Formats: sequence, structure tokens, C-alpha cells
Amino acid sequence: MASIVLVTGGSGLVGKAIEYVIATEPIGSRFGKKQGENWIFAKSSEADLRDAEQTRLLYEKYKPTHVIHLAAVVGGVYKNMKANSAFLRSNILINENILYHAHTHHVQKVISCLSTCVFPDKVEYPLDETKIHLGLPHPSNFGYSHSKRLVDIQNRAYREEFGCNFTSAIPTSVFGPNDNYDLEDAHVIPALIHRCYLAKKNNAPFVVAGTGKPLRQFIYSRDLAKLFIWMLREYDDVEPVILSVSEDEEITVKQVADAIVKAMEFKCTYTFDTSRPEGQFRKPASNKKLLSLIGEFEFTPFEIALKQSVDWFLENYDNARIGQPFP
Ligand SMILES: NC(=O)c1ccc[n+]([C@@H]2O[C@H](COP(=O)([O-])OP(=O)(O)OC[C@H]3O[C@@H](n4cnc5c(N)ncnc54)[C@H](OP(=O)(O)O)[C@@H]3O)[C@@H](O)[C@H]2O)c1
Repeated sequence: MASIVLVTGGSGLVGKAIEYVIATEPIGSRFGKKQGENWIFAKSSEADLRDAEQTRLLYEKYKPTHVIHLAAVVGGVYKNMKANSAFLRSNILINENILYHAHTHHVQKVISCLSTCVFPDKVEYPLDETKIHLGLPHPSNFGYSHSKRLVDIQNRAYREEFGCNFTSAIPTSVFGPNDNYDLEDAHVIPALIHRCYLAKKNNAPFVVAGTGKPLRQFIYSRDLAKLFIWMLREYDDVEPVILSVSEDEEITVKQVADAIVKAMEFKCTYTFDTSRPEGQFRKPASNKKLLSLIGEFEFTPFEIALKQSVDWFLENYDNARIGQPFP
């Protein structure tokens, strides 16, 4: 029987990366489109998933057999700190509408997207899939974190009561083409790419928010896309899987800034605005479970992925998300 894969959040960073991989990998290969498969990439203008009726109509329209659920209100540390209640409410509504209607429409499988923000602030590192509920998340984004944690609870409840094949993925920080480059509300890499671009264009100082010292594990959106496709095809457990490069590939924000300056071919010195908050200092996550399940997987080296992302931004500046109102 033909599969219909609905990707919610299909217009976002991760959704566009899945669309790219499905369009470019050889048909029938591990990460490519299968014969008879139909992929739908939904955006918010088609259905506001905070609304139960609009969500129901989306399911009625496409009758998906599988769902990759990416849609979420997403943002960097400043946006989260300004609006914890909006993050909590919007994401709870979106997630419950998607899962409830997946259940009532007998969807065969749903993979929802969590984030390493869900993990407790005070916890023994490295993070792994068993530690999600062991303590409170970091206060800067507790609304977003709790809404995402709840998905793991929803998955277990729907599976226990109705046998639904629902599970979740936990990516570390994602970057790539089609990111949100809003100067205030974006994640660290797209915000720095945009700031560096403006500094070069205006011959102005390149200011990096924070101390440059926090460490992050970044995953390229096109690598993450392949991992979602792998989960869709080959993973059937309710337990989440961390989708990430390995812990020893943590890098500092300063190293990110260095790589951006190099990719942008901008000869400059930059300064740090240490008055800006910068979230958790580090949150290394283990990808052991992923590697034990997937076997061989080649991650794109950081500098190559960053260069591709910077080039995409330069080529698409006029149409990129360089500032968007808060929903
Ligand atoms: N970016 C990261 O570093 C990161 C890290 C870990 C986990 N994640 C998770 O990865 C997933 C995808 O994130 P992303 O980075 O791709 O985010 P993104 O680029 O901001 O895209 C968000 C997507 O969600 C859609 N959306 C937002 N509100 C919606 C609503 N009310 N109804 C329907 N659709 C709505 C947006 O649609 P429109 O654009 O059409 O409005 C967009 O397609 C999210 O679940 C996020 O929590 C992201």
C-alpha cells in the first residue's frame, strides 16, 4: 500500500532539509524516497495546528499514513525568555492536536521532535535518553522545555491505551539552509551569520552576544533529515533517540564565530557583548544509542556544513527569514 508521509513544520529549517534529502537522495536508497511514497510538507498557512479543527481538516485532506511532526514555536534564548507562557501554550496545543488526530485517523507511525532543552538543568553529563524527567529544565526556556517533555508522556499514554506507534527524536542544536536569521530571536549560528553579514556589508564591528565560551553540539539540518528518515523506516520503539554528533564534537560559540568569519571571508576582529544572557553553559549529549542502532552513518564535517549554510544565506538573503513577528 502507498505511504503518505505528512511533515508538519515543512517550511522550517528541519522540514526543508527533509524535503531536500527526499528530492536529492537516489530513489529506493536508505534515505531516498521509496516507490509509491508521497511526501507532504505542510506549513502554518495551510493549517494553524494550535487549532483542533484546522488540524483535523489537514488529516482529512491528506490522510497520512505516517507523520514526522516538526511544527513548533521555536526560538533562541532571548525569544524564550520573553515568552515562556506563549511557548508553553502554543506547543502544548500543537502537539496534542497532532497526536490526537493521528490516533483518531489511525496513522501508522508518528515521530515527534523534542530538543536537548528538555533535559534537566542540573544532571550528570552526558545527557542520554533515560534522563529527560530527572529534574527541572533550565529556567530560561522552561515553557518550551515542558511542552516538549510532555510529548514523551503523550507518546507513552497513546501507546499504552491505544497501541499507537508514536515516538520522538531529540536533536541537539540544528543549523543549515532555510534557518531563521532574526537578529534577536534566532538560534546562535543563524544569528551570528546574519550579524557577521551586516558587519561586513556596513564595515561595522561584528559583535558576538555573550562571552563566546558556552559549548554546544551542533547537527547539520541535512544530516538530521537523514536521521529522521532512518527513524521513520527503521525505529519502532516509544523510547526517544538523541540525534546528534558525538560528545567530543562540542564547540564553543567563539569557534562558531571564527568559522563564520572564515566562511564569509571577512577579515575582522570581533568583540563580545558579555551583558547578554547565553543560556546553559554546556549540555553534552550522548549519541551512543543512535550509533548502536543505525550502524554506519557519516556526519558532514562542521566547517563544510557551515560553509554550505553561509553560502545558502548569501544566495538567498532577499527571501530568507531575517526577522519575523512573534506568533
Ligand atoms: N532549530 C534547532 O536548533 C532545534 C533544536 C532541537 C529541536 N528542534 C525542533 O525541531 C523542530 C523543527 O524546528 P525548526 O528549527 O525547523 O523550526 P523553524 O525553522 O522555526 O520552523 C518551525 C516550523 O513550525 C511551523 N509552525 C510554527 N507554528 C505553527 C502553527 N501554529 N501551526 C502550524 N505550523 C506551525 C512553521 O510554519 P511556518 O513557517 O509556515 O509558519 C515552521 O514550518 C521543532 O519541533 C523544534 O522544536 C529545533
